[in-house]
Formats: sequence, C-alpha cells, structure tokens
Amino acid sequence: MSQLVQLDGEGSSIALLVPETGMPLLLHWGVRLTAPLDNATAEALAVRASRINGLDESVAAATLLPTGGLGFFGWPALAGHRSGRDFIQSLTGWDVVRDEKSATLAARDDIVGLRLEINLELHPGGALTMRSGLVNEGREPFILDRMMAGTMMVPERATELLTFDGMWGAEFQPIRGVRPASLLLRENRRGRTSHNRYPALVLGTPGFSENAGEVWGLHLGWSGNHVVALDSLDDGRCLVHAGELFEPGEWIIDAGDEYRSPVVTMAYGAGGLESLARSFHAYVRHALLAWPGGRMRPRPVTLNTWEGNYFKHDVERLKRQAEAAAALGVERFLLDDGWFGCRDDDRSSLGDWQVDRRKYPDGLDPLIAHVRSLGMEFGLWIEPEMVNPDSDLYRAHPDWVLGVEGRPLVLSRHQLVLDLTRPEAADHVFAQIDAVLARHDISSIKWDMNRDLTAAGDRIGRAATGRQTRAVYALMDRLRSAHPAVEIESCASGGGRADFGALARAHRVWLSDCTDPTERQRIQRGASIFLPPEVVGAHVSASPNHQTHRAQTMGYRALVALPFHFGVELDPVGLSEADRRELAAWITIHKRLRPLFHGGRPFHRDPDDGRSLYGVAALDRRQAAVLVTQEQAAIRELPPPLRVPGLDAAARYRIRLLNPAAPDFIRQTAAQSDLLGGGRLVTGEAIFRIGLPLPALRPQSGILLEFESQGA
Ligand code: GLA
Repeated sequence: MSQLVQLDGEGSSIALLVPETGMPLLLHWGVRLTAPLDNATAEALAVRASRINGLDESVAAATLLPTGGLGFFGWPALAGHRSGRDFIQSLTGWDVVRDEKSATLAARDDIVGLRLEINLELHPGGALTMRSGLVNEGREPFILDRMMAGTMMVPERATELLTFDGMWGAEFQPIRGVRPASLLLRENRRGRTSHNRYPALVLGTPGFSENAGEVWGLHLGWSGNHVVALDSLDDGRCLVHAGELFEPGEWIIDAGDEYRSPVVTMAYGAGGLESLARSFHAYVRHALLAWPGGRMRPRPVTLNTWEGNYFKHDVERLKRQAEAAAALGVERFLLDDGWFGCRDDDRSSLGDWQVDRRKYPDGLDPLIAHVRSLGMEFGLWIEPEMVNPDSDLYRAHPDWVLGVEGRPLVLSRHQLVLDLTRPEAADHVFAQIDAVLARHDISSIKWDMNRDLTAAGDRIGRAATGRQTRAVYALMDRLRSAHPAVEIESCASGGGRADFGALARAHRVWLSDCTDPTERQRIQRGASIFLPPEVVGAHVSASPNHQTHRAQTMGYRALVALPFHFGVELDPVGLSEADRRELAAWITIHKRLRPLFHGGRPFHRDPDDGRSLYGVAALDRRQAAVLVTQEQAAIRELPPPLRVPGLDAAARYRIRLLNPAAPDFIRQTAAQSDLLGGGRLVTGEAIFRIGLPLPALRPQSGILLEFESQGA
C-alpha cells in the first residue's frame, strides 16, 4: 500500500505518494492545495502507462531522488557501488514519520545494505527544505558517486529558465532562456560557492517577470562544489536535483558510517519573482539568521577601510577617517585587509594573525579605543582559510596546505589553502583568531576567502573539497560559539560565498567587489531574489569608481546602496564639503527609513527604458519608499507613470521627494514639483492604478520618494 504524504504551508503544498518499493513519487509541488487528497485518488493520479516498446510495467519517473538500473532512464540522483558491484540501488519498506509541517521518509536497500533518509520541512513563508542522508549498513565501504540533497518537480508549463552566472566583480548576472528539453547540468568545481555558478535557479511560466507569472525557485545552501541538474521527463514535466558534487572517489562511506547532504530550499510564487523572493527572504530570516542576542539590531551603517586605504594602514590617518566617518553618522568602522603580519600587498602574511607592529606600534587597541570613543563599533577583516607561502605559518608548516603529492601547488592571489580537515591546522587557526577576538573589543568580522581550490586533496591524495567545506563551517561555528556577540560578514572576493549555507553562520554578505552603482543594480537585483536586503552589504564608494572608472554623483551612489545594509567605502576625509554634507544627509535618511527597508515588503520592476524601480511598502501599508534610478539615457520622450504597489487603496498619501541635493531632472513642471513636494494627497488606488507623472531623469541619477498615509 502506498502512503500519501501532503504538507501544506503558506501558499504552497507538496504531495508525495510513498510506494512500498521505489522512490517517493512527486505528485505536486507548487500552489497550496485547498481540497485534501486521499490515498486512493493519489494512487489513481500517479498511474502512468508506458508506450509501445516500453517496459511491461511502467516505472515511476517523477520521484524524489530517482535511482537507476531498474527502468528509470533519466538522470539518477543517487549513484554508487561497492568496489564495482551493487551498482543498482532500490529502496523499500518506507517508514514515514511526520507532523504538520515536516516529514522524514526512511527506507532500506537490503541487497546493497543501505539506509536512506529524506527530510522535508515547510517553513513560515512557504519555503520547503529537503536534505538526505545515507547510512552504509553493509560490511564494506560504499563508494558514493552522487547523492543529491533533494529534488524539485515543476509542471510542464514551467518552460522558462533563469540562472545566475558571473565572474569577479559581476556576480548574479541573470541568464534567461527556454528550459532545455533534455538534461542540463550546472556544475561548480571551484571549491567555493563561486562567482559564476550561483547554486540556485528559477523556472517559470512563459514571460514570468518581477510581478507576474508562476515561478518555482531552488537554492542549495552549500559553499563548496555543487551540481544542479535539470532533467525533463517524458511527459513534459521536469525534475531539478541539487546537491554536492563529488570528485572521483571523494566520498567513500565506511561500514556503519553515513553521508549527510547539505540543505536544498525550494520556493513557489504565484506572482512572479517578487512572490518567490518573499518566501526565500522569510526562510533566511526564520531558519538561517542567528543574531547575537536573538534579535536583529538595526543594521549599523558601516565604513569599510578597503577602497579608502587598501594595504596602506597609518594609524593617525585611520583615526582621522574614523572621526570623519562618525561625523557622517557611521556606526561601525571595519578595518579591512592590511593590519597583520607584514602585509604591504597581497603577496605575504596570510596565516600570521598577529598585529603588524610596524603599522600599529601599540597594537590595535589605540585605534579601537578611538573608534569606540566616537560611538562606533569596531570590525576586523580576516581570511582564516588561507596562507601565503611568504608567511611564518607556511615556513613552519608547509605540509598544512591542501594539495596532492607530486602535483603542483597552484597559487592564486599568491596564496594557498590551508587543509582544515587536519585538526591541528584547524585548531591553530582557531586559536589565532580566537586570541584576536578575545583580546580586542571587536563586534564583527569580515570573513574573506579569496581563491578557488585546486588540487584540493588531503595527505593520502583523496579529494577533500567536501570535507574542507564542512571543516570551514565547523571553524565558523566554533568561533561563533566562542564569541557569540560577534557578527560575521561572508565574503569571497566579493560575492563568491553568498549562499544559504554561509548565511546560516553569517549576518551579512559582501555581494561584489564592484561598487559602481550601475553595475551593482543588476548584481543586487539578482541576489535579492534569494537574500533579504538587511544582509546585503552595499557601499558608497569613490568617484570615479575604482573598478569601472565611471564618475557618478553622490546622490546616485547613495541611492543604489541605500535600502540594503548600507555603508561607505572611501576616504571620508577626502570628501568635498558638498559631498560630505550630502552623504551625511543620506545616512540620516537611511537610518530613519531602515526599519521600512529591512522590514517591509520589497518590490523590483524589470528595467524599462533604462529606468529601474526598487520599492518597499510597510506591512501595515501606511508608508512606502521608492527608489527610481535611470541607469542609461532614455530613448522615449517621457517615462511611464510611476505605479506603486502595496499601498492601501482608500488611504490618501503625501508624497515627498527626499533627495538632499537637487535631482538630475531633465525638466520638471510646477505641477510635478508640487506633487513631489507633498502638495497633493493621492489615494493608494490612484497611485497604483493611474500612476504618478514623474519628470524624466538624466542617466546615472535617481530619486527617492516617500509615501506617507494621511488616513482615508
Ligand atoms: C577581497 C574582498 C575585498 C577586500 C579584499 C582585501 O577582494 O572582496 O572587499 O576585503 O579582499 O584583500
């Protein structure tokens, strides 16, 4: 007898039919089912005939973690063997343990000697997580070639695909296309989440957009090698599997041991990417973020010293910058790379986490005390997983790096990766960072990771990326429990480690080393499908921009960063008087609006004629803020009316333009100036249905509008 397992959450349901033998059948994942299914109906709906010349008895294809060898001809999500034998796995005798929002399904293969467990859980906001585990109950090692964390099924109408590619400085680039009719594999072998294969994708109905169409999204919370596989079924539906990617021989489960997968998170949205983002954001907030003290504090406006100083640390200059930052309203001063060892450039000292006495003769304390006396928190940059060959650590322990004997040690940014699967190496790094945190008044760290892994093997030459990823997580967890008040920012040459696995241990991600607002718009838009704004670091940097050399106004730079975890990354002492005044005003605006930015309902609109919209409406609909930015010059005479969703239709709103300096309008009429100056009260319905006639903007400029309800 098959068992029906149905979980219903906020806006979403999953329905599975668990057979006696074989993998659990996926009947439904998507919009919430309102009429309960029963076993008999589910069985009737699950039956699929095979075609002429097919097997006499059809084998279910739409299953969780399908296995091969017995008539499923698609991509197996679980595969392995015992020294070449037992290549077929077939699970039987399912045991289902469930409550209202979760289910654990477990079964055995007695021929091979395996026990498989699959956990499913629905979260507030509608996201569904899956993870899997495999126990070797046999007497010999089981060589696991592949084991996905979970499987998402999408219906035949989800024919469009959105994935995220990119590179350093250009993360989260959307790639939109038609879902292939066959198999699509997206594999990441860089040993970190990567800039170019974000472990997530979205499938949707034709033409899905920010606010329309049905969408199904999947995200693998894993900061190592991964695979996401799309496998179209014969009936037009599609399975998406996600899990860890193993190098040959990487995962051998000894007798009695087990393999545990990372977590894959799925979300469904009936109203475009915006509705999908709501589920993912709720998941990150409820299931991942563990704030010191149990609650998120308002995100402190941060000054990061990197682009304003690079490796040139001078205590007096840094103190002047701290004073200027505090005067601007900055709340956290984060000292980036360059404070330790003898680090004058990126060629040395990683691994030597002692304060550089040439630059800081009295240690970090005088600077920290100064920063604290100015009312700011102090944060510090570290890159614990790495070592430069030119370092005391490497000279003492050259064997502590990941590498395979006889193979070259490939340098990247002049650095090598410590083999943290060696307990002595992990203990050493822990002790050094623990000492830095214990001896100083530090409230946050920026945890960087600046290279891809190569020849990532251990002492006996076995591939170690999966174990290294777990060891990095263990090191983070250990430091977090030793210093529970310290927040962590996850960075990997920008946004190379911005996945949910990292976010289960961090409180912010550095999304990209590119701080040019025009480039950032696209990067932030892609990331915002998965990451809530309060964890996304976004900084105002110098003009001309250091990465693109484009010159941009203070207003445009501030606007694009404003709704996120806002910060500044420039030498504040060198600002012109006008820029300094304007930046201080933006920081004041950010602080006033941050409860809305970080607690409201965000929406994006697809760029139209070079113009982007990002807005947030308060949950009680009494307030909204909308950022309108013109990235490129428009080619239509006039912009379309601005329509703001999420307002109370009957309430009348005062509209106010908040830019501290005059916006770059091409031409503004007196009526427009009156409207944007709060001179007219407009109903929420009119703002949404009719829209506001905004003046056209010059390229690389923007405005911030606030809507405040004055009641009905
Ligand atoms: C990486 C980070 C930067 C900065 C440098 C320091 O590139 O992404 O933000 O911290 O390292 O070396």
